[in-house]
Amino acid sequence: MTSSLMGRNIPFGATKENTYSAKVDEKMNSKTPIKTQLPLYKALPTVKSTDRIKPRGSRRVYIETYGCQMNVSDSELMAGILIQNGYEIVDDSDTADVVLLNTCAIRENAETKVLNRLKHLNHLKRQKPNLVLGVCGCMAQHMKTKITDAAPYVDLLLGPDAYRNLPMAINVVTSGDAFLGLRPDKGEDYADIAPIRKEGVRAWLTIQRGCDKMCTFCIVPFVRGRERSIPLPLLVNDVKRLVDEGFKEVVLLGQTVNSYHDGQHNFVDLLFAMSEVEGIERVRFTSPHPSDATDGMIQAMASCDKVCNQIHLPLQSGSTKVLQAMRRTYTAEAYRDLVAKMRERIPNLAISTDVIVGFCGETEADFMETCNLMAEIRYDSAFMFKYSARDGTLAHRTLEDDVSEEEKGRRLRTIIELQEGISHELNQALIGETVEVLVEGESRRDADKYHGKTDGFKTAVFPKVNSKIGELVRVKVESATAHTLLGEIVA
Ligand code: 5AD
Repeated sequence: MTSSLMGRNIPFGATKENTYSAKVDEKMNSKTPIKTQLPLYKALPTVKSTDRIKPRGSRRVYIETYGCQMNVSDSELMAGILIQNGYEIVDDSDTADVVLLNTCAIRENAETKVLNRLKHLNHLKRQKPNLVLGVCGCMAQHMKTKITDAAPYVDLLLGPDAYRNLPMAINVVTSGDAFLGLRPDKGEDYADIAPIRKEGVRAWLTIQRGCDKMCTFCIVPFVRGRERSIPLPLLVNDVKRLVDEGFKEVVLLGQTVNSYHDGQHNFVDLLFAMSEVEGIERVRFTSPHPSDATDGMIQAMASCDKVCNQIHLPLQSGSTKVLQAMRRTYTAEAYRDLVAKMRERIPNLAISTDVIVGFCGETEADFMETCNLMAEIRYDSAFMFKYSARDGTLAHRTLEDDVSEEEKGRRLRTIIELQEGISHELNQALIGETVEVLVEGESRRDADKYHGKTDGFKTAVFPKVNSKIGELVRVKVESATAHTLLGEIVA
């Protein structure tokens, strides 16, 4: 990681208390589950951004990230908070004094993966008894002390609104107590915290936290709280700093990114403001909600050169009945019309999507509607999932998870095969065309080649000749798979 701090130096308003410490007499060990100490928790003073909390001993922190890009961005925030307070971020759990897993709760298998990883880390903890082990982010917020029931050797749990308390939490654990920071704080936007990013050409910039949409399948509003947007002027300054640090592309991040509103400016204002920043070559965003895709947004995408002609537009289902059960607030017809309108106004628009199969009540006929809509729209790519019931969501409380696991598997395999074929055909159709690529780094498979992304967010691989990282180059496509374009740089 670089130490390129992006300090914002703005006054920080008071936060609500969201820290609790479990006071115990003995140092936490694997036989002292956090849960048994719950009655002893007491509130600690609120941490302010200007406070510095020096490490008591453990200094080297390893952060392992699971899940979406927002979690990657949150890990950058955690790194920023820790470095500001005198910690060092390391790349390897074996040499660390503190191991933090920044986790995801979106589907059950995301949580299972982390529980398995914790078992593995317990071996490390047995060899290094002073190792501080923490679970942060969405799964901590979702499972709470169920995590420490399953893994009693976990020392700290911090939800997505409590990262500010990390230095305090680590100190509390170092002095022998367990630490929980799970109280939601709807005012927390971390607007004053400087994330630490890995060097690169693409920076992910959180512009909004939380979600107000309440789709019935989704855990996000319960673990990340209500929607809040970071003020536009701060974001513009962030992008200027990113340019100074050498970044060429910015991806605006939010759960429903296009519902951005800071009280004065909306998403359209933000797109225009971002593309006016000198030195930034490309602007993207993810993920928009179809219901917030206004004409203004489409117009801004069409008229701002720097805003890429690419959109990730989650469909979830092609059946209006299922969309209603999901409370997606649009119909399949409205979605189809939106795509048609966007394609008409934005030339060469690349579209990707998210699809869930086997949602509660999804019949074969509903599933066929999804297949038909995918075949009709012909997405460039898609992320496809089996429905996973999430404790706490409306679907879990009120709908029956009535599609069998085998049937979900069959439906998933069907759409993956369908999509692979479409992606392959669309990429094959680019053979002979010249695409603009932002050079990102050396190809993992061939040291003589670079890889980068096209405007449409497709991966391209090409010989290094006449190019360097961070440049926009023109690549003539010579061959293609469903996932990669291969070619050569042309003048
Ligand atoms: N089960 C399966 N997939 C889900 N997603 C969100 N919640 C669930 C769930 N409970 C998918 C949606 C969303 C993507 C990030 O994850 O497709 O767009």
